[in-house]
Amino acid sequence: MTTSCNNLIAGRWVKAQGGETFDSINPARFGEVVAVAPRSKRTDVDAAVAAARKALPAWRLTPAPRRGEILFRAGEILLQQKQAIARLMTREMGKVLEEARGDVQEAIDMAYYMAGEGRRLSGETVPAELPDKDCKSVRVPVGVFAVITPWNFPVAIPGWKILAALVCGNTVVFKPSSYTPLCAQRFVEALQAAGLPPGVLNLIHGTGAEAGDPLVNHPGADGVSFTGSWQVGHEVIQACADRHKAFTTEMGGKNAIIVLDDADIDLAVDGILWGAFGTAGQRCTATSRVVVQEGIHDMLVARIKEAAAALKIGNGLDPRNQVGPLINEEALNKVLSYIRIGTEEGARLVVGGGRYMEGDCRLGYFVEPTVFVDVTPQMRIAREEIFGPGLSVIRVRDLEEAIQVVNDSDYGLSSAIYTRNVNASARAERDLDTGIVYINASTIGAEIQLPFGGTKHTGFGPREAGGRGGALDLYSKWKVIYRDFSGKLQRAQIDKSPVAAETIGE
Ligand code: UN1
Repeated sequence: MTTSCNNLIAGRWVKAQGGETFDSINPARFGEVVAVAPRSKRTDVDAAVAAARKALPAWRLTPAPRRGEILFRAGEILLQQKQAIARLMTREMGKVLEEARGDVQEAIDMAYYMAGEGRRLSGETVPAELPDKDCKSVRVPVGVFAVITPWNFPVAIPGWKILAALVCGNTVVFKPSSYTPLCAQRFVEALQAAGLPPGVLNLIHGTGAEAGDPLVNHPGADGVSFTGSWQVGHEVIQACADRHKAFTTEMGGKNAIIVLDDADIDLAVDGILWGAFGTAGQRCTATSRVVVQEGIHDMLVARIKEAAAALKIGNGLDPRNQVGPLINEEALNKVLSYIRIGTEEGARLVVGGGRYMEGDCRLGYFVEPTVFVDVTPQMRIAREEIFGPGLSVIRVRDLEEAIQVVNDSDYGLSSAIYTRNVNASARAERDLDTGIVYINASTIGAEIQLPFGGTKHTGFGPREAGGRGGALDLYSKWKVIYRDFSGKLQRAQIDKSPVAAETIGE
């Protein structure tokens, strides 16, 4: 069944002004068109930004607890629809059903968390230097936010961004990935059904070049929140810097798991398999390197090989399958080309290494879980983001070398260590240069109540998701208010020029 998607502008579902559309297809079955969506251009973006600007004054003045209540209701609606949206997600982007449910759950968690934030959004009140005067800092909205999201978490990532933006009092123009328009549509419908006023959240479908670019560069968009590739993220950073916009960019990783000789090997194997091949490796947080101490190396490789070969590949709607398809042909070719590169570089392929074509899988973009060993830190497969089911195993002497190898990367999103040694885990926790560090757990599965993001080329700008130092710092600005109730001119201490201070040292 094919569903028609529309843009949402000022509370009305509309087609693109030019009347053009694009198809969203099922990556597990090429022939299946899941949705047809409007192919928006600059004029559609203009209309959406105008709607968001118009809605801003009233939304900004809506009490934050009221804004939070709408988010709470949206969370309840998403909970009721979790199963239905998850099925659509599996059809539209391929992740297996259980993970698709988790994706929706992440947005539900964020809705509840941000609903509560409506009653906090706290600033500070601090003492003033002068009598009969007080001072405080308050959070105020940035204005109209452009939100640009990827296909790999088609409900969760819009949830992190949009729910935080809304509770802070911003209005939003949302441009989801052109590979997942229907998931985006369902998410926006939930917010609309929860009572969001017209124009507060606007949805524009289309490509990055035709819709995303004019949105990022639009003078009416005060802030940009972007998750996607490094190449596009870099352009977003430059565009926002030139125009002095608030922004954040999340741009991927080359995440590693360290396994020391004393690790619980069963636990480590489970964590490696889940991190490397969950979501077919298509997470920013996916495990793409295993950095293993030499004493346990051969045994660990044998176990990974056996477990990877046993993973069930296939359509994610079948609950027996564990690894779904890649998102599109470009992704398929990219992963296959890295497999060639790895072999040419001299790494040894121990499992996988090709497209998976059994049965119905020939109708989709499936790739076998693939593991390379004898990988050296300088090889391209150890340095570049593959974003698919490819894992590189690197052998090291000790913890010190392991940390050095993990940190020798352009990226710094997530890392993990498996060890039973408390001192080793403490050193790793301190010295790993990544935004997220896991101890005896895989590199994926970050929780929404903590800031999400990384160091180096992984991200630039405030962190996403929740908690102190998280999204609230992106979606609000500080305003400081001094109130003098003395009834007379009181000069600040700096303007009083106390005699004693001037005479010191004379
Ligand atoms: C991503 O891949 O861009 O930590 C996000 C995780 C998920 C989010 C991943 N909560 O794996």
